[in-house]
Amino acid sequence: MTLQIETDVPLRALNTFGVPASARRLVRLRSARDVRLVVDHPELGRAPKFVLGGGSNLLLTRDIDAVVLKIDIMGVRVCEDDARSTLIEVGAGERWHDVVEWALQHGYFGLENLAMIPGTAGAAPVQNIGAYGMELADRLESVDVVDLVTGRTATLPAAHCRLGYRDSVFKRELAGKSVITAIRLRLPKPWVPVTGYADVQRWLQQRHITDPTPRDVFDAVCAIRRAKLPDPAVLGNAGSFFKNPVVNRTICHEILQDDPDVVSYPLPDGTFKLAAAWMIAACGWKGRSMGRAGVYAQQPLVLVNLGGASGQEVLALARAVQDSVQRRFGLRLEPEPVIV
Ligand code: EPU
Repeated sequence: MTLQIETDVPLRALNTFGVPASARRLVRLRSARDVRLVVDHPELGRAPKFVLGGGSNLLLTRDIDAVVLKIDIMGVRVCEDDARSTLIEVGAGERWHDVVEWALQHGYFGLENLAMIPGTAGAAPVQNIGAYGMELADRLESVDVVDLVTGRTATLPAAHCRLGYRDSVFKRELAGKSVITAIRLRLPKPWVPVTGYADVQRWLQQRHITDPTPRDVFDAVCAIRRAKLPDPAVLGNAGSFFKNPVVNRTICHEILQDDPDVVSYPLPDGTFKLAAAWMIAACGWKGRSMGRAGVYAQQPLVLVNLGGASGQEVLALARAVQDSVQRRFGLRLEPEPVIV
């Protein structure tokens, strides 16, 4: 099969912020072989490329001149299943939440805390998705990639992906250089619930659940997310727009001296994570808007498209929020999504 090159493709439906932009050229890739066809293609081979997954961690502020590679590689299968663990292979184009649900329904447990995170499986390692006491790094075994210059395929073990807090090699050295075609997840047995996160604990306690099942944890996470985070189908957004700043003890101490109420969490390596949501709220941004872009009232870390916003409008709001936080706390918040 040859590649179909679509031209002037509207991207509004392909990014969860729902902002308008268009791709001059777009190619849908359904297999790793398709990626190699792009690399060998006389016209596309040399052109700059932009890899698009679920568009859930992306803010488009302009049209894309690079060739957009829309990853539609599907498939979920169990590769290994023994007394100690299950290994699941997932095509990069699968919706992440569908994978979590599929695993739960088939009795493969250990992804519940990552329920309802928008985006695709292939995008999950890029920012090392994480929520409610778990991150992808806890479950990722390996990632299949195709090099966009040589067309060579490789399997990167998780240890080579340099997964950090919303960070990986795919955001750094490999950015724009390779396409993720599949990921493998290792689910250890026996299943042990991860319920340390305060919101999850509270949800279970309120229901007098002392010995939670995987379904209980899944239900808790879904309920908490529904209450706090806007549904992109209703209100365009890309999840948390900013990362929580991680600072050393000295800086944390200085900030707390000026503002004793700042919410901070000690990390195992001696640094401190500051609650960016708290800082944004403290600057008075909760529920406020600028043009058609707004700061979500239930979770101020999330910027939303109130209807018809442009990417530029969202970016202008993001900058205004960054400026306020910097003036008051001396820290510049770092955006989480890729801004194009
Ligand atoms: N907070 C406020 N006001 C608010 C909301 C939160 O002050 O309106 C403070 C509270 O002190 C709260 C703290 O922020 O204790 C943490 O809030 P939350 O549990 O919602 O977590 P978060 O740090 O704001 C992170 C992730 C989310 C993830 C949750 C749960 C980042 C950038 N975000 O948010 O991930 O769902 O933890 O684990 O780390 C995403 O990355 O897109 C995302 C949604």
